Amino acid sequence: MSGSGARPPLPPAVAIVGIHGHGASHVRRARALEERGVLRLCALVDPRPDESSAVPATGGVGALRHGEHATGDAIPWFPTLGDLLSAPEPEVRPDVVVLSTPIPTHLALASAAMRAGVDVLLEKPTTASLAEHAELVAVAQETGRLCQVGFQTFASHAVAAVEQAVREGQIGEVTGVGAVGTWVRTTGYWQRAPWAGKRRTGGRDVVDGVVTNPLAHAVATALRIAGATTTADVSDVDVDLFHANPIEADDTSSVRVTTRSGLRCGFGLTLCAPERTPATIVVHGTEGRIELAYETDRVRVVTGSVDLDKQYGRDELLEDLLAARREPGRRLACDVRDTGAFMRVMEAVRTAPEPRQIAAEHITWHGEGADRHPVVTDVARWCERVAVQHRTFTELGAPWAHA
Ligand SMILES: NC(=O)c1ccc[n+]([C@@H]2O[C@H](COP(=O)([O-])OP(=O)(O)OC[C@H]3O[C@@H](n4cnc5c(N)ncnc54)[C@H](O)[C@@H]3O)[C@@H](O)[C@H]2O)c1
Repeated sequence: MSGSGARPPLPPAVAIVGIHGHGASHVRRARALEERGVLRLCALVDPRPDESSAVPATGGVGALRHGEHATGDAIPWFPTLGDLLSAPEPEVRPDVVVLSTPIPTHLALASAAMRAGVDVLLEKPTTASLAEHAELVAVAQETGRLCQVGFQTFASHAVAAVEQAVREGQIGEVTGVGAVGTWVRTTGYWQRAPWAGKRRTGGRDVVDGVVTNPLAHAVATALRIAGATTTADVSDVDVDLFHANPIEADDTSSVRVTTRSGLRCGFGLTLCAPERTPATIVVHGTEGRIELAYETDRVRVVTGSVDLDKQYGRDELLEDLLAARREPGRRLACDVRDTGAFMRVMEAVRTAPEPRQIAAEHITWHGEGADRHPVVTDVARWCERVAVQHRTFTELGAPWAHA
């Protein structure tokens, strides 16, 4: 042994839990970070391995050829998080887990990880209910572990730029915040998982509708820009939920939020538009407006004298979490506590009366088979009115909102 100098610290070990569906993109991103030496992908967890690529278990631990290491080694695979956390092999022990599993599993998995001393990146929506959110915040508090939630817009430089423009008074005094999301989701989307489009399943809350899942980023990001991140930052929520698809949950909804400071927000959201357009958040002020296309990090500032359009970048939530591990006291981009305002909306959706069916006369069906999707007449126009006027579809007199 030469004894010259200490070894460089090993990169943190990261495990991905939930590897199919959206989890596949976490596996891809973790592998890219592994190639850069930022982390070591130590394990994959899912009750459902990729059958075609699983290799025989060794010592109780399976391994997947799917997502092989840069080194060519297979990545150890475990059917449950409990199996991973209790595994005797030190090399599979994670410092961080990424949880990309169905909504009803979030609280239990994130709590188990933090109690085992592991930091967490938890996919949105944070939990299935406000009570579960409070429980998760308590576990983070008690264990001192980091819990980042997967609202990737919170790590966008565009969002930070909008917040700065608002602070600097570039559009005068803010008079309201709106969000418009007019997307398309097909029959195949609702059939992809047993919990898709459900409000409850097997006695558990799921709350998988347009407001709380596909367009959850619109809600959480608009609230953050309106200054509402924690549970206490929201004073009132009104939701008005509808569906055109044959699902339990909502696919066409309007939401009004009043923040603690009295600012009003209106969100018009649908998955039944004729075509997908960029989801947009608009901050209205006495001297102009700011438009944020949060999927692409584009910001437009419009005042009497200025019309500026600018493209921004964004950080990755996993890298941000790893940076917070290295730098004690550094704020997470999307700390679990900062999703409380979003969870107030989620709770209003969860406890609202069942979404109302939009009458057939207001719906046109397009496409075939798994691509079939409903289009609600004039839905984009009504969503824009919700965002500008902060009134619900029913209050605005949208034709489908009247029986
Ligand atoms: N941030 C985003 O942009 C974004 C996009 C899509 C989905 N999501 C979120 O990601 C999460 C997963 O969504 P999805 O559509 O991929 O779901 P999915 O049901 O398609 O996939 C979930 C995966 O988790 C696995 N799984 C289920 N229970 C598990 C458990 N107890 N332990 C380990 N693995 C388990 C399943 O086998 C499956 O592989 C949800 O919270 C969803 O809202 C986020």
